[in-house]
Amino acid sequence: MTRYALVTGASSGIGEATAKLLASEGYAVALLARRREPLERVLADLPECEDGHVVLTCDLTDPASITAAATELSQIFGGLDLVVCNAGVGYRALVEEINDKLLDAVFATNVLGPMRLARELLPELRKSDRAVWVNVSSVVGRRGIPGQAAYSATKAALGSFAEALRLEWANEGKGGIAVCTLNPALTATGFFEAQPNPGDLPNPDLADAAGPMDVAREILQLDKRPEPERSLRWKWWLLGALTPIFPRLSDRMLAKKLGGGWQAPTR
Ligand SMILES: NC(=O)c1ccc[n+]([C@@H]2O[C@H](COP(=O)([O-])OP(=O)(O)OC[C@H]3O[C@@H](n4cnc5c(N)ncnc54)[C@H](OP(=O)(O)O)[C@@H]3O)[C@@H](O)[C@H]2O)c1
Repeated sequence: MTRYALVTGASSGIGEATAKLLASEGYAVALLARRREPLERVLADLPECEDGHVVLTCDLTDPASITAAATELSQIFGGLDLVVCNAGVGYRALVEEINDKLLDAVFATNVLGPMRLARELLPELRKSDRAVWVNVSSVVGRRGIPGQAAYSATKAALGSFAEALRLEWANEGKGGIAVCTLNPALTATGFFEAQPNPGDLPNPDLADAAGPMDVAREILQLDKRPEPERSLRWKWWLLGALTPIFPRLSDRMLAKKLGGGWQAPTR
């Protein structure tokens, strides 16, 4: 039977790769982002599906736009099996450089949008026999990093949201809705070019980065066999696990790993 999936942020990077992989596996995919034209380009590349793929334009920072997209999706698909909550924006800035408008936008996109989307899509997920929700968070959600304090905090909030949702939805629908957090590490996409970077802090070297399709494969795996949380680089997983128990050790390890003049605190 066809599985019906929604992928947010499907117009580029990880979301585009995920939409393509899911479609190649026979899913009917709803592609969501703000800009229609790049979504139409991705749609044109998808293998045909009897049940049809669909493009949804929606700005996740706008509650009315989220409600409208959920209503449209319900009318077209009439139920959802998988939501890949992937759309997100970065913000590379020292705390002293943070601009109010950009701060609001990064939280609205990465945290408030997914929460509102979950509320609006619950009735659709309840119709599925095996519903799965995957939040694409980040390794920096489990270990905040300098120069990306706002972005890290949004991903930490997303992880906390998923922890709560996992229990709230344990008895929802038919047999519970599985909620997964996926924490990619550095991935070669247009994410870094798109993010505001007022002080021109150096962007990471993408030479050793994963590819978007590597992350898409993990998402497909999570749909087949849901796990509460998966981090894609073990060193980052270790940093996240050490932080609440040995915060000073974690600080030192992180400063060394990042280089670039960052220092662990001495007090
Ligand atoms: N790249 C990495 O190294 C990395 C590492 C860890 C985690 N991640 C996470 O992975 C996810 C995907 O990132 P990516 O690397 O694939 O970045 P990307 O190529 O920049 O893709 C971001 C996607 O989000 C959409 N989007 C942005 N703001 C939106 C909004 N307000 N409403 C609806 N859609 C919106 C964009 O489309 P429109 O502009 O058309 O709206 C685009 O499709 C993000 O959540 C990111 O935080 C990335």
